[in-house]
Amino acid sequence: MHTTLINAAKAAFQSAFQSEPEHIFLSPGRINIIGEHVDYNDGYVLPAAIDKYICFAVKKQQDSETCTFFAADLNESFSFNISEKQSPVGQMWVNYLLGVVDAIQESGKTVGGLQIAFSSTIPMGSGLSSSAALECGFAYILNILFDLQFSKKEIALIGQKAEHTFAGVQCGIMDQFASVFGKENKVMMLDCNSLEHQYYDAQLNGYSLVLFDSCVKHTHLTSGYNDRRKDVEVGKEIIKSHYPGILNFRQVTEEILTELKEDMGDLAYKRCLYLVKEIKRVEEAVKALSENNPEYLGRLMTETHTGLSQEYEVSCNEIDFLVEEALKEESVLGARMMGGGFGGCSINLVKEDQADRISRNIEEKYRKAFGIDMKVYKINISEGIKEYTDNEFII
Ligand code: GLA
Repeated sequence: MHTTLINAAKAAFQSAFQSEPEHIFLSPGRINIIGEHVDYNDGYVLPAAIDKYICFAVKKQQDSETCTFFAADLNESFSFNISEKQSPVGQMWVNYLLGVVDAIQESGKTVGGLQIAFSSTIPMGSGLSSSAALECGFAYILNILFDLQFSKKEIALIGQKAEHTFAGVQCGIMDQFASVFGKENKVMMLDCNSLEHQYYDAQLNGYSLVLFDSCVKHTHLTSGYNDRRKDVEVGKEIIKSHYPGILNFRQVTEEILTELKEDMGDLAYKRCLYLVKEIKRVEEAVKALSENNPEYLGRLMTETHTGLSQEYEVSCNEIDFLVEEALKEESVLGARMMGGGFGGCSINLVKEDQADRISRNIEEKYRKAFGIDMKVYKINISEGIKEYTDNEFII
């Protein structure tokens, strides 16, 4: 099933290093059913790993400190000494990897030389967390090949740290967790404060999750994302000054926000209102999943979109259009922007046997409205990062 991708990574390795790789790893992207922008705001999220991957073909270099990467899809290489202190460079994909090395060095552990070629089926800049797949995939590889004894949770945290320090996005932990802890056909409810998580069956009763990629690359994500964090901090400080007993957003109610609205100002109020409502929606969504109620789940997803678009203001015209058009269809139970926002994908809960017709219809309308060809991804919920052996894959 992933043979094409694995073969592409192997071929890239052979052409870059004139030898055979010794290990193959697959690191998945993620979807998020609901719980957006709450992972850094005391919330719960409901993500899952998907069958879109970065495939790494790897060989350990004995007695060497040189680490060489070949990014096959970009046709770019980068080499560095893995034992030296790292600092960010001009190529963004490299920063995710250097950030991982930096985080591992900070933990006091030692790694050695490697040759790695990688290729990906996770579209970049589409909100499917190709960066978390890259960071966590690399951290996972180092952990196995140099026997670093990090737990899976520590690998996710290393990936997040790399994003904070070397990529400049103050992201939450959702993407990294989904990539590391994903389970086939299961959705994960992650408590972003305790990092405890539970799995739920992805039972959708004849409905499926379909992604519409607006093909608007989220170039404003870094600044927009970090700005939202600041807006929320303003709100949080005001809440705490009036209610010193309140430790996190889970304890905040809409009534408290209304009472403090004037002090907070419109912007911080709107941002916090979204968060308080979204945290509750995720709890409801888990009930909807466990009770086999896709209708209710869909309604909650759509409410999330309204909040993301009007209160948290991280959507964009193209995504709003895709959501609006999807919701005109009777066979769509819910639709919303997914991920960090400012572009990327919408996620739609669509009756399985109508998905093709609806996708074609929306594709055409989108082309007419924006002159852009959107992409449609039908995804399967899959396992988190894994090493694969030839026997399992190459038939
Ligand atoms: C990005 C971040 C995540 C999360 C989402 C929004 O994907 O990396 O941590 O905040 O945006 O839910």
